[in-house]
Amino acid sequence: MNDPKRYLITAALPYANGPVHIGHLAGCYLPADIYVRYLRAQKRDVKFIGGSDEHGVPITIRALKEGITPQQVVDKFHALIKESMEQMGISFDIYSRTSNKVHHETAAAFFSKMYGDGLFEEKETEQYYDETTKTFLADRYITGTCPVCSNPNAYGDQCEKCGSALSPEQLINPHSALSEAVPVKKKTTHWYFPLQNYEAWLKEWIIEGHKEWKNNVYGQCKSWLDSGLQSRAMTRDSSWGIKVPTPPAPEGGGGKVLYVWFDAPIGYISATKELTEKWTDYWCKEDTKLVHFIGKDNIVFHCIIFPAMLRAHGGFVLPDNVPANEFLNIEGEKVSTSRNWAVWVHEYIKDFPGCEDVLRYVLCANAPETKDNDFTWKDFQDRNNSELVSIFGNFVNRTWVLMHKLCGGKVPTLHENILDEKDKTLVKEIENSKIKIQTLLEEYKFRDALFEVIDLSRKGNKYLQEKEPWIVAKKTTDDGKPTADAQQSIDNCLHMCLQLTANLAIFINPFLPGTAKKMIGMMKVVDKMLDWENAGKIKLLSVGYSLREPQLLFRKIEEEEITTQVEKLKSGLIKSSTIMTTENAAPTPENKTAPETKEVIQFEDFAKIDLKTGTITAAEKVDKADKLLKLEVDLGSEKRTIVSGIATHFDPSEIIGKQVVVVTNLAPRKMRGIESNGMILMAENNDGKLIFVNPDQTTHNGSGVS
Ligand code: MF3
Ligand code: ZN
Repeated sequence: MNDPKRYLITAALPYANGPVHIGHLAGCYLPADIYVRYLRAQKRDVKFIGGSDEHGVPITIRALKEGITPQQVVDKFHALIKESMEQMGISFDIYSRTSNKVHHETAAAFFSKMYGDGLFEEKETEQYYDETTKTFLADRYITGTCPVCSNPNAYGDQCEKCGSALSPEQLINPHSALSEAVPVKKKTTHWYFPLQNYEAWLKEWIIEGHKEWKNNVYGQCKSWLDSGLQSRAMTRDSSWGIKVPTPPAPEGGGGKVLYVWFDAPIGYISATKELTEKWTDYWCKEDTKLVHFIGKDNIVFHCIIFPAMLRAHGGFVLPDNVPANEFLNIEGEKVSTSRNWAVWVHEYIKDFPGCEDVLRYVLCANAPETKDNDFTWKDFQDRNNSELVSIFGNFVNRTWVLMHKLCGGKVPTLHENILDEKDKTLVKEIENSKIKIQTLLEEYKFRDALFEVIDLSRKGNKYLQEKEPWIVAKKTTDDGKPTADAQQSIDNCLHMCLQLTANLAIFINPFLPGTAKKMIGMMKVVDKMLDWENAGKIKLLSVGYSLREPQLLFRKIEEEEITTQVEKLKSGLIKSSTIMTTENAAPTPENKTAPETKEVIQFEDFAKIDLKTGTITAAEKVDKADKLLKLEVDLGSEKRTIVSGIATHFDPSEIIGKQVVVVTNLAPRKMRGIESNGMILMAENNDGKLIFVNPDQTTHNGSGVS
């Protein structure tokens, strides 16, 4: 859209049934925030809308598992997610929630208007029903044995063990997750939205009208449209959600609620209403540019179903673009919240205080913009140490130190008469960068835009290296001061470096706002300097202005910090089923994962493992690590230090004196700075508590186990 009057930017409303992980950030919150910060720097009229999606099956399942109400689930996670977003600098104008009153009213009114216009089809179908709890069961609520891999805890829509997509009919021994009852089929009535009626219009609008959408988005839409659309139920049988209004439902909804994907996107509208009285300017005026930032699993809802709803209802603008990202994997594997294979944002913030911008940097640099991408802790460390610290941070720091040393802490004069080619090239580079960064941001190419900023700072380092003001300063007169010529050359060099730093602050601001803030602090200028219109200029800092001392922009990340993270990730994976059951009120069938069966190994492989008996002689908690205990184990001929992730299961005092079985030839690993030399064998009892594997009679320490 050319020259919109105002921007309405949304980021997918996360389900409030768990914390957010870095894949969520990389997928939509970070790109949305970068875009919004850029628009604000351009002084555009922009509203950035977010909030929690608090309805739907995943939330009721979580509540069921934990023995609490859905409202308690969403209250807890809404607060946690909101806080994580704030801490990561995701600058929503409002972070609302779909359980609030405005939203219930808005979504119900939206439905009523469509119903009144005769846009729904009423259909009766048969669905699974639990007669003991008198509830209809969504596919997820039916569990049974997987026909493919015999996992006894498969869901009616999917087996999480082997990944097969299932329907409830395929399960062997199906039973209700609510009561263990065998589900029966029962008739129920729902209101369907005939998407096929909008197919021709959608084709025109997307296939013809939005060829500029990203390939992954355009491609997915095209394949949906090519395979033909069908009616989709917009209501569900459930007690958690927005009650279907009367008519068509009886007073109180009659046990029927709006389908979560009907209500959630309307949440964008309700949140805007809550934010500003002028919400109709944003939602109803044609010169608004509406952009939805989402992850790829949300494409069909934001590109097909919601636009068709908006069109059917009438009076609303449609999205101008839906720049969906693909997925971010972790250490080469798909994120899995049930296996706890994820990096949780609230935990990152605790583990790396003050390093929020580093995560923003790494996630943007690795953003899955065109294909799935991978996050590894090694890459996190490398990008921090060799890009942020060694290139960007280093340039700014050298400039500041030299300016204090060689120019008396003030912005030196620019002697125009002696400007050389290198100076002129640098000026051109700054001007060009502005154009490039701006174009890339407007095309939603955030990674490339960020690389351009880093590249500009790299050019700054090169310039400084070639000009060598510290060498020039050695050309002195008798009083030991640089000669007049030398000083002029130094002045020019540092003047340029300072102006470049000011530009870098403007450019980095949308990506790393905390860093930009530190930089304007050092330059002693106001926030306004970061306005985009100032970018590309080289007169941002006035001659003679005195500047502050340098501040450390980025610190080095040590090897040990990342090994701890990798360790944590892997231990989370092993213990995930344990963590689930201990958190929950009572273990239920669906959260007990079947024990993994590993591939067959040869005897020689087994013989490589050195197992010995030992006695725990000392145990203490490890500082700032909730899960770790530091143990001393007597192996007869020697004592070993072993760090074990069992602190949530045992009190140090209760395990001293226990005889255990130890893997003694495991390569040493550092955890929280302590070298661990071995591993203790553990099993899990029926309540999910860890127990020791030990000889059934006490024996001498150091006895070989085979
Ligand atoms: N809660 C959904 C998810 O996490 C996203 C909802 S986006 C909205 O996949 F548009 F529906 F709000
Ligand atoms: Zn299976």
